[in-house]
Amino acid sequence: MTTKGVTGDMDRKENEKPMLILKDIHKFYGNNEVLKGVSLEVRRGELVTFVGPSGCGKTTLLRLIGGFTDISAGDIILDGQRINDLPPNLRDTRICFQNYALFPHMTVAENVGYGLKINKWPKDKTAARVRELLEMVELDTFGDRMIDKLSGGQQQRVAFARALSLEPKVLLLDEPLSNLDANLRLVMREEIRKLQERLHITTVFVTHDQFEAMAISDRLVVMKDGLIEQVGTPIEIYERPANEFIAGFVGYVNFMEGRIESIDETTCNTVVNTEYGRLEITLEQDDVKTGDDVLMVIRPESVSLSLDCGDKSQNVLCGALKSYMYAGSIAKCTVTIGDRTMIIDQYNPRDAQQFQHADRVEVEIPRSVHLLKKK
Ligand SMILES: Nc1ncnc2c1ncn2[C@@H]1O[C@H](COP(=O)(O)OP(=O)(O)O)[C@@H](O)[C@H]1O
Ligand SMILES: [Mg+2]
Repeated sequence: MTTKGVTGDMDRKENEKPMLILKDIHKFYGNNEVLKGVSLEVRRGELVTFVGPSGCGKTTLLRLIGGFTDISAGDIILDGQRINDLPPNLRDTRICFQNYALFPHMTVAENVGYGLKINKWPKDKTAARVRELLEMVELDTFGDRMIDKLSGGQQQRVAFARALSLEPKVLLLDEPLSNLDANLRLVMREEIRKLQERLHITTVFVTHDQFEAMAISDRLVVMKDGLIEQVGTPIEIYERPANEFIAGFVGYVNFMEGRIESIDETTCNTVVNTEYGRLEITLEQDDVKTGDDVLMVIRPESVSLSLDCGDKSQNVLCGALKSYMYAGSIAKCTVTIGDRTMIIDQYNPRDAQQFQHADRVEVEIPRSVHLLKKK
């Protein structure tokens, strides 16, 4: 083997080592345990988002990683080094607080260059770096402006540039978009993601907004009451939620109860006996078996609605249209089936207008339904 080959292998091994490891992290405020054993490995260059309802411990976790709050038990390993006891300025992490925490008496350039100044960078090198950072966030002509003369989105960019100034190993972002209006949130979301990918900077993002989390992340960590409920890519979380809470948290969902009657091992064709009769699906999971009581996770956009399915009867249920709401790109319908109501999204509202005054409709349940085993 050549020397080059060996170095290559070593580089690869280095790159495979996680950048950040959280090991069984606990945090108490008095008797109140707000983090109850959180463990996770974050890969180099990955954008991981902690998402969960308000109060579940997201900010606390980010502050622990940044060193702004002390840990009650567990370990934080950054690039192979245990950093539990290091003060924030000696950790190779930078945090963007939810309210940006910019210095109001300083200009944009002074804010962005603050960390460099503290670290005693020479003036010319600092000026060049600040210029580079302001260009990166498209604020190159705003260097002399005071913070209070900036819009919310511009302040967000300054905070982001300031956090990146010393090229931290891990960037921590606490609800960075929550103070912006809806349209700007979408724009900034994309900008952050693009920059993060370009700089290949390991990022821990925190938000309570499940749609933002899905759009921006490599992986989501869904939290509830100080515990991780599920870790996975946005698709895994949406298509194969681990439980009812997650299924409902990452989008609208219709649940249907049933019992698995049979599973064909070769074709994976699975018959579920429900209160509306037998439905057939193609099983794509191995955590359920014949005889199990299950909840079928039926997403509103996966169901098709028609006035009459013709001869087709498998997986077709009859219902009555209860409501129809046209919303431009989508029509939201509710259909009463038996004594339950199902939410159905139609992505071709022009075609869907035929349902507007229909009372009897047919609903086809897809074969791709995910099952949750009932406890
Ligand atoms: N400094 C503190 N002292 C006491 N309790 C706190 C403190 N900070 C947060 N908490 C409590 O910890 C829990 C988690 O809070 P937080 O991490 O801010 O949640 P999130 O960011 O997910 O909304 C909440 O119940 C909150 O009231
Ligand atoms: Mg918070």
